[in-house]
Amino acid sequence: MHIQKESGMKKCVLVSGGAGFIGSHVSVELIEAGYDVIVADNLSNCDLSGVEGVKKITGKEDLPFVKMDFCDAEAAMRLFREHRIDAVIHFAGFKAVGESVGEPLKYYRNNLESFINVIEAARANGCRNILFSSSATVYGEPDSLPVTEASPRKEATSPYGNTKQMCEDILRDSVKAYEDLRGIALRYFNPIGAHPSALIGELPRGVPNNLVPFITQTAIGRRECLSIFGNDYPTPDGTCQRDFIDIVDLARAHVFAVRRMLDGRMTEAYEIYNIGTGTPLSVMQLVNAFQEATGVALNYRFTPRRPGDVTAIWADPAKANRELGWKAERDIRDTLAAAWAWEKHLAGKD
Ligand code: UFG
Repeated sequence: MHIQKESGMKKCVLVSGGAGFIGSHVSVELIEAGYDVIVADNLSNCDLSGVEGVKKITGKEDLPFVKMDFCDAEAAMRLFREHRIDAVIHFAGFKAVGESVGEPLKYYRNNLESFINVIEAARANGCRNILFSSSATVYGEPDSLPVTEASPRKEATSPYGNTKQMCEDILRDSVKAYEDLRGIALRYFNPIGAHPSALIGELPRGVPNNLVPFITQTAIGRRECLSIFGNDYPTPDGTCQRDFIDIVDLARAHVFAVRRMLDGRMTEAYEIYNIGTGTPLSVMQLVNAFQEATGVALNYRFTPRRPGDVTAIWADPAKANRELGWKAERDIRDTLAAAWAWEKHLAGKD
């Protein structure tokens, strides 16, 4: 799938939370597709290495970076006032499911307030196009698989998940009320991997919650053993099934979505897309694929289920395939090899 490069006057996309894992990969793809990008981040959950990596990959040494917190309404207003921003992709938010259960107010305040400020500041300064990074978590434990965008949302099992639902609603209602706005929510399944350059990737703080960073850290010897949470699920091999999607594939979906908005091709003022591969993989299958892709034997054991995990979820990505013209393409082995190259890069063992 070739991404056509933008021609003519460059459009400018603000990437809030652009120094993080998904934001940095999205920034690369936007720049490579010919957009001007402004990265804004408060660096509360990452450092500047993501932005440095984006500069190296794209050769864009003068990539604008603004250190700011979108919970500061005045700072958000200033940013939109001082730059001509055509579209904003909002990533800035806390994302640790477990932490959100213990500190719900921190999550509600940060994730809701920052998004409200972004919408208000965009609107006040003539930026009509707002893209929100949502999550498959809104589907909860689905009644049938794969899930389509029309599948019902389930009551959230964590404040984090609830903020995703609430932000979707904030965007939907704002677009309905303010005719000048358009919105897209992308529902990500399980983004994994790293840029093939090994210059950007995931930087988990402390012990990783997510599967692939835990696998790569175990493989490199930072963790002793991977715990596979449950092998008694009603799935073919007893482990949970997920829709693991390559981070570069996922990042590219944003380019297609932004282009659809900016070209005025949206058919509804508020659109939702599943961003997944459409192919389920079990945790055990993923572990095996990692071993095959890297030749590294992984130390793992089965432990009890992790509370809150759904048994299985994967996407029907047909709407995104059809309307965005986007499709996930990367082979899972290449994705896992990239995650491994990134871990080795971090360890300085390249
Ligand atoms: N898993 C393990 N061992 C680990 C980590 C994870 O066996 O050390 C298993 C989990 O039990 C789960 C699967 O690997 O079955 C995937 O777990 P992740 O934590 O990587 O991903 P989740 O599907 O739980 O979470 C993802 C996103 C969240 C989002 C959630 C729900 O990371 O942001 O999907 O959609 F909220």
